[in-house]
Amino acid sequence: MELTKAILERYSCRSFSPQKVAVEKLQQLATLAGGSPSAANKQAYRVSIITEKDELEKCYLIYAREWLKTAPAIMLICASLSEGWIRADGKNHAEIDTSIYIDHLTLLATDAGLATCWICNFNMELCRKLFRLPSSLEPTALLPIGFPKDAAIPSKKRKDVNEWLFANQIPHDKL
Ligand SMILES: Cc1cc2nc3c(=O)[nH]c(=O)nc-3n(C[C@H](O)[C@H](O)[C@H](O)COP(=O)(O)O)c2cc1C
Repeated sequence: MELTKAILERYSCRSFSPQKVAVEKLQQLATLAGGSPSAANKQAYRVSIITEKDELEKCYLIYAREWLKTAPAIMLICASLSEGWIRADGKNHAEIDTSIYIDHLTLLATDAGLATCWICNFNMELCRKLFRLPSSLEPTALLPIGFPKDAAIPSKKRKDVNEWLFANQIPHDKL
């Protein structure tokens, strides 16, 4: 699949088929996504591929939505703050590394016929507690992954490009 096609066909899937995905396939995609760029090549993230019942159930508590239970696997993706490149003004780039990683992963999954959905609206405190995360790991997203239940790809709803794309300068009047 061409990259443009993967970008056009990726969407946030909230209903998965019961068909399992081989753990080896998930590991392969997660590994390939590690080819994404990162600030100073730090790769400041940690990824867990969750397929065991007990661990999946933690995700259902952290993000209590019935549809999440349809996903055969969920990735927990954390920014590793202690490893992030820090700019002179103090900005830690670990979450940027992590977001790029996730974006690559979602496109690779689409290319492989799988579907995903970024989830950030989870209970952060409970996530830290249930997965015993140290303070240096910032959970960035849960990413359910699996075969989509429906073959239809929803059309994208987006702002008009003229609202955010400019030439040479960014006007301040529309902020
Ligand atoms: C950083 C981020 C956080 C998101 N958090 C959630 C979430 O908690 N729950 C959810 O259902 N979708 C979540 N989404 C999915 C967005 O709602 C979705 O990407 C957006 O509506 C555009 O739709 P599309 O992904 O189908 O193109 C998130 C997406 C991003 C990039």
